[in-house]
Amino acid sequence: MSVLVTGGAGYIGSHMVLALNDAGEDVVVLDNLSTGFPWAVAEPAKLVIGDIGDQALVRELIETEKVEAIIHFAGSIVVPDSIADPLGYYLNNTCKSRALIECAVDAGVKHFIFSSTAAVYGMPEENPVSEEAALNPISPYGSSKLMTEMMLRDTALAFPLNYVALRYFNVAGADPEGRSGQSTPRATHLIKVAVQAALGERPKLDVFGTDYPTPDGTCIRDYIHVSDLVAAHLAALRYLRDGGRSEVINCGYGNGYSVFQVIEAVKRVSGVDFPVETVPRRPGDPAALVAGVERIGKLLGWVPQRDDLDQIVADALGWEKHLNAHRDAS
Ligand code: UFG
Repeated sequence: MSVLVTGGAGYIGSHMVLALNDAGEDVVVLDNLSTGFPWAVAEPAKLVIGDIGDQALVRELIETEKVEAIIHFAGSIVVPDSIADPLGYYLNNTCKSRALIECAVDAGVKHFIFSSTAAVYGMPEENPVSEEAALNPISPYGSSKLMTEMMLRDTALAFPLNYVALRYFNVAGADPEGRSGQSTPRATHLIKVAVQAALGERPKLDVFGTDYPTPDGTCIRDYIHVSDLVAAHLAALRYLRDGGRSEVINCGYGNGYSVFQVIEAVKRVSGVDFPVETVPRRPGDPAALVAGVERIGKLLGWVPQRDDLDQIVADALGWEKHLNAHRDAS
């Protein structure tokens, strides 16, 4: 029996593969390498290069690898890109998820874990935001993920497929042992971009808006270490194997940091006082987005191990230096 990890050559997926390998699971990765890297898939996990929308390939894979559970990361994740290319996002995140779920149902795969997002909440009225809060995505990205949550909900009612949809807050950092990290050159996420500014890969860091109704005027987010995030997936897999029922669960720490606090942390940890410029708000940013974490603790027994902004930044910085050293050497 094996676990199929879609998007396992990408940022979060590659960390999942490390954790599954460490747990002694048999792992097969399906990735089309649109944003992932073959070297990111650690052995003994197997990499199959292909698309999750290719049902003939997925059906064959599920059968030959005796897939018992699917952890589905593959998808498009850049919010502004989703506004420019909504149909591309609905294709990748919704239509192809549908194709994958259909293969899972037809082959009798029992467990499905889905990468959802806090973007399904849009601009929440209250923080921390609970899973019961209103769902009002304000980008095609958020809508495309919410539609997949809905497909899973309805499918699990009709067929013996149990799922957990994890709504990620702001995932950051890198494997503390330096085995993987965020490698996409065109990164947009704050900690990655700030670390690049600290290492001189960018001339400056832009702060998108300082007039939000928060203590220092910048947006507040719940930054979760990627290793804790993948540990939550392992806990979700155990939960489903133990007969847990289908659930949607927030995945964050329940505390938030402002953009200025993150910048301070990056300057402190790196020892570099890089240039920072204030620019107007970026459209679509909620002022604050912090996870309600009651459900994840109660259902999955998940306890964060790396809830420390400086540690998240240090691991992200370590990985960025590693990437630079490799770039310089090649
Ligand atoms: N920010 C800057 N400058 C930058 C980059 C980001 O000021 O160069 C700010 C953003 O405006 C925002 C905060 O830093 O206030 C965090 O921005 P990110 O781009 O790192 O992350 P987001 O909060 O926009 O996005 C995250 C996830 C998405 C998810 C979204 C839900 O990455 O997948 O939360 O709101 F959809």
